[in-house]
Amino acid sequence: MTSLKLLFGDIFPADVGDRPFAVRDRMEFTPQVRSNYVFELDDIRLLLMWDSPRVSYNKNLLLTGPKGCGKSELVFQFAARTGREVLRYSCHERTEFADLLGGMSILADGSTAFQDGPLTLAMRRGAIFMLDEVNAARPGTLIGLNGVLDGAESVTLPSGDVVKRHPEFRVAVTGNSLVRDESAAAFRGTGAMNSAFLDRFFVIEKDYLPEHLESRLIITYLSEILGDPMLNPQGIPVPVELPTSIVKFANVVREQFKKGQGEVSISTRGLLSFAEMIALRWPHVCHAPEDEVKFVASKTILGPVSGVMRASFLRILAAEAFDNKKWPDALLRQANRSAGSASSSRPRTAKIGTEAHVEILVNPNRQNSGNVAVWGYLRGETSHRAFHGVLTGQPRITWQAFKPTDEILAKADEKTRSRGYILSMRLVLPADQAKVLTTKTFVEGFPNSFTSPADPSNLAELGKAVERALVKTFGVNALVLR
Ligand SMILES: Nc1ncnc2c1ncn2[C@@H]1O[C@H](COP(=O)(O)OP(=O)(O)OP(=O)(O)O)[C@@H](O)[C@H]1O
Ligand SMILES: [Mg+2]
Repeated sequence: MTSLKLLFGDIFPADVGDRPFAVRDRMEFTPQVRSNYVFELDDIRLLLMWDSPRVSYNKNLLLTGPKGCGKSELVFQFAARTGREVLRYSCHERTEFADLLGGMSILADGSTAFQDGPLTLAMRRGAIFMLDEVNAARPGTLIGLNGVLDGAESVTLPSGDVVKRHPEFRVAVTGNSLVRDESAAAFRGTGAMNSAFLDRFFVIEKDYLPEHLESRLIITYLSEILGDPMLNPQGIPVPVELPTSIVKFANVVREQFKKGQGEVSISTRGLLSFAEMIALRWPHVCHAPEDEVKFVASKTILGPVSGVMRASFLRILAAEAFDNKKWPDALLRQANRSAGSASSSRPRTAKIGTEAHVEILVNPNRQNSGNVAVWGYLRGETSHRAFHGVLTGQPRITWQAFKPTDEILAKADEKTRSRGYILSMRLVLPADQAKVLTTKTFVEGFPNSFTSPADPSNLAELGKAVERALVKTFGVNALVLR
C-alpha cells in the first residue's frame, strides 16, 4: 500500500493525498518510472476513475492535445506508478485492424504459430492497450475496434480462435487535437463516426503544462544534468532566468501557432531537447550566453523553421531572455572567477591515511536512460578526489582533480538528495593501492544487460555488480565492501 501523494506528487487536497492506494507488482510490460514527470490533478482524477474496477460501462480513454505535450507519457507514467502494463501500437498510413490482432509468425524451429498483436495480448493480460497517434491511420481502418470499445467480452481471430477480455483490460487512444479538429484525418470521410467514436471515451484534453510547472520541469532537468562534473567541471549553477525565459518564449510561439500565424509550435519535448543541448555545451554557454542560446535554439526548438521566420523568432527570444537582463553578465563573471580559482588555490594531491576509503553513490537509471551511473570520491585528509562514471551504455570512469573537502561533501549531499542516487557504498583498500585509481575509459565486467536497474529489489544485486566492476576496472584486490 502506498498513498496517492507518494505516487503522483503533492497535487491533491490534504485528505485525498494520504488516501491509501494498492499498487500492482511490476510485470514484463510495466513501463519504467520517470521521476520528473509532472502530473496534474484533473488528469489523475480521470485516470483513476477509468482504471477503477467499478467502471463497467466505459473503459476507454481518449487523450488529445498538441504535439509533444505529454499525452503518451501520461499513460506510461500512470501505469509505471501503479504497476500497470502498457502495450502500445503507433498508427501509421498502412495500419489495418488486423495488425492489432496479430498473425502467423515463423518460429525458430521453422514451424509457424499465431502470435498475439498488442490488442489481443493486452486483452489476455489485463493490460492497457495504447493506440498511439490515431490521426495517422487512414479513415475507417479502425472500425473493427468498435466492438472492443463497446465492451465486447471477446474478439474472434481470423483463425476462429476466441480471445477473452480480462476485466482489467483498458484502452487508451491518443491523437492530436481530435476533439477540436472535426476533420481529423482518422475520421475524415466517415461522417457520423467522428462523434460516435468520441462517444465511447472518457476524454482528457491535454495542453502544455502551465508556465511555472513547465519552467520548473526544465530547471530541474538542466540542474540534474549539470550536477555531472564531466559536463560542468566548475560546478556553475543554472540561472533560473534562462529556462523560465525560454518557456515564456515557447508560449509566445504556441499562441501565434494557435492563431494560425506561425508555421511551427514548440513542444515540451522540444524544450527538454533544448535543455539537454544547453547542458552538453555548458562551458560554451557560460562564456557566450547569448550566442550559444541562439545557436542551441536554432538546432532544437527552431530547427524546423525556415530562415526568415527563424531570424524573427530569434529576435523575440533575445528580447525575452537577454534584453536588459542581468543573468548573462553574472554567469560570465562566475565562469571567469571559477576559471581563475581553478588554476591557483586548488589542491593537487592529498594525504591518504593507512586505508584508502572510496565513497560511492549509485544511480541505477541515470537521467532515465536506463544506464547505471556511479559518483563518488576518494577521501583524503583535507581534500577529496571525486570521480564519475557510467557502467552501462558506453562505460567509462573519470577521476577529477583533488578538491577541498567541503566542496565535495556539498556535492555528495546534493547527489543524495537528488532522487536518482539511491545506493550508497564504500570501498576500502590499502593506501598504497589508491594510486591505481586513475581515469579508465572502460569499466570491465559490468553486465551491459543489467536488468530493471530502477527496480529497488535489485539493489543487492546491483551493489555486487558495481563492486565487481570497480575491482576489475582498477585492478585492485583486497577491496572490502562496507
Ligand atoms: N507533464 C510532463 N512532465 C514531464 N515531462 C513531460 C510532461 N509532458 C511532456 N513531457 C515530456 O515531453 C516529451 C513528449 O511527451 P509525449 O511523447 O508524451 O508527448 P505526446 O503529447 O504524446 O506527443 P505526440 O503528439 O508527438 O505523440 C516526453 O519526453 C515527456 O517526458
Ligand atoms: Mg504521443
